[in-house]
Amino acid sequence: MTFGRKDSTAGTPAQPRPEAPRAPGFDPANPAYREKSMAVFDRLISTVDAGALLNLPVTEGRQFIQAEIRKILRQDRIVLSAAAEAFMLDEICDEMLGYGPLERLLARDDIADIMVNGPDNVFIETGGRIEKTDIRFRDERHLMNVCQRIVSRVGRRIDESSPICDARLADGSRVNVIAPPLSLRGVTLTIRRFRRDKVTLDDLVRWESLPAPAATVLSSLARAGCNILISGGTGSGKTTLLNALTAFIDVGERIITCEDTAELQLQQPHVISLETRPPNLEGEGTVSMRDLVKNCLRMRPDRIIVGEVRGPEAFDLLQAMNTGHDGSMGTLHANSPREALSRLESMVTMGYPSLKTATIREMISSAVDVIVQASRMRDGSRKIVDVALVVGMEDGRVTLQRLFRFDVDNRGDPDARVRGQYIRVNGLTGVARQKAAYFGLEARIDAALDQL
Ligand SMILES: Nc1ncnc2c1ncn2[C@@H]1O[C@H](COP(=O)(O)OP(=O)(O)OP(=O)(O)O)[C@@H](O)[C@H]1O
Ligand SMILES: [Mg+2]
Repeated sequence: MTFGRKDSTAGTPAQPRPEAPRAPGFDPANPAYREKSMAVFDRLISTVDAGALLNLPVTEGRQFIQAEIRKILRQDRIVLSAAAEAFMLDEICDEMLGYGPLERLLARDDIADIMVNGPDNVFIETGGRIEKTDIRFRDERHLMNVCQRIVSRVGRRIDESSPICDARLADGSRVNVIAPPLSLRGVTLTIRRFRRDKVTLDDLVRWESLPAPAATVLSSLARAGCNILISGGTGSGKTTLLNALTAFIDVGERIITCEDTAELQLQQPHVISLETRPPNLEGEGTVSMRDLVKNCLRMRPDRIIVGEVRGPEAFDLLQAMNTGHDGSMGTLHANSPREALSRLESMVTMGYPSLKTATIREMISSAVDVIVQASRMRDGSRKIVDVALVVGMEDGRVTLQRLFRFDVDNRGDPDARVRGQYIRVNGLTGVARQKAAYFGLEARIDAALDQL
């Protein structure tokens, strides 16, 4: 059903609503309840004037629909318990006005990810742990309709000929939809919630993602214009850390950010945010990350920040780092700083297959100063587990020198909270030291490293 508000406020929860009250024994999946809810829903579609609904603000739209539902319940003599009626009022409103059953999840701000694997399997991630919810869509068609409503925000439709789509909710959350025939088990929807409140480096210290001296080291390196790559697995907190580090960039600098979906929230006055563009319905009009990063170079940036480096734009970012755009930063998917280097190398090769490996490595070693490794630990917590400097080349390989790392103490204990300690490995050297010295920050970094 694509019946609903088409304006830009469609699907924006009017205000966070807690889960509908449930009486003990009331189960929304109960067949008798489902039958009644279906009947009311069908009657509602045939009686309500869609045009009138479209012009109402969300809150009034809800009140209007609820009044109509009560009318139908009375007229058709449908008897429901108080809990079932309250649930039905919410459920049907959500369905007609917003993102259906997802509304209840979107109203909660403790959820990091929402993962919908078909109508009956809705998972959420809270506090780093994945759990299944009792949220259900009526059927595959219902789920597909909610997905269509979401992607219509970016002027797209999902169908067999274009079954993949990235979109964004009104609140900034990042969405991916993939449908059959590509997804074998039906429509799959993934939402990464956007945090409105910016996570600061102090927050990360408080959450024990890194100790205070390590935060001092990272913030000083960011301030001093080191070129920093943040490496990590999916959902390991790369973007969050990148965002936190940007707070240490001087307000006088001109910063240009390039992202697939704008997630970064820089506070500086001189920031230009660029976003890539997926192809339109005709498969045209793509603006790739590579296009953006190349264009950036003509915009006189002091620093370039690439949300996620995942392809041939790696070359342009390295180029930028090597041509005086000190303090450029980005994230990439890799499991260790060493692996981040080889990922970079293969991404550059994608764009420039004829470049010699030695040339690419030279380029990487002179461009990148620091690699920070983020990790989602087995207990769901996120930690900075490794920080390494890129210090040069040796025997044709890029040399890394670790500043510090996190060592897990209770390795063999899968269910326990991760315990461990940070170990300082080497001191600040090379280009990173020179850059820090230029800003008078090297003593500060040395002292912080000593405290680890
Ligand atoms: N240090 C942290 N402690 C607890 N939660 C965190 C931490 N860092 C990030 N998160 C939460 O984890 C989720 C994923 O974070 P983030 O988007 O930064 O990860 P990512 O590595 O960039 O993911 P992706 O690979 O999907 O881009 C977010 O909901 C974020 O709020
Ligand atoms: Mg990210």
